[in-house]
Amino acid sequence: MKPGFFSHFIYKNKILLAMIVAGIISSIFFSCAGTIPSPTEIDVQRAKLRWPGTRIQDLNDGRTFYINRCSGCHSLHSPKRFTEQQWKKIFPEMKTRAHLKEDDSKLVYRYLLTLAKDSSNTKQ
Ligand code: HEC
Repeated sequence: MKPGFFSHFIYKNKILLAMIVAGIISSIFFSCAGTIPSPTEIDVQRAKLRWPGTRIQDLNDGRTFYINRCSGCHSLHSPKRFTEQQWKKIFPEMKTRAHLKEDDSKLVYRYLLTLAKDSSNTKQ
């Protein structure tokens, strides 16, 4: 066995280990955030019909608040999992539970309704 073999072996395995750890961390991260869709320009156009002046930043902020504030007690549901009517029923109670500030809660609500299951069929 060459003298440098063993340290080379450890060195290579450190890289392998780092890759495995990175893989695990990213899969945990993406399994949480991955099901929560990011808004697109089409969503912005749809949101503007109801909330004139909506920018993509507003929907992105709503999404961020949703991920940060609504995941404490249960795993997050995709906004697409419920219809607009369902969200309208669910949201008021959850907003209280999450202790959202009024402004933040409006952004979350706007995000959820804009990306709700049936929202693309909703005129106005
Ligand atoms: C303090 C804990 C808590 C927080 C924070 C919380 N929830 Fe909930 N949520 C619950 C509990 C408990 C249930 C299940 C029982 C129920 O429906 O009351 C639930 C259920 C739900 C459901 C499923 C309802 C259904 O009919 O299947 C949705 C959707 C939901 N929450 C959305 C949200 C949103 C959006 C937020 C952030 C604004 C949020 N939750 C924050 C406790 C919480």
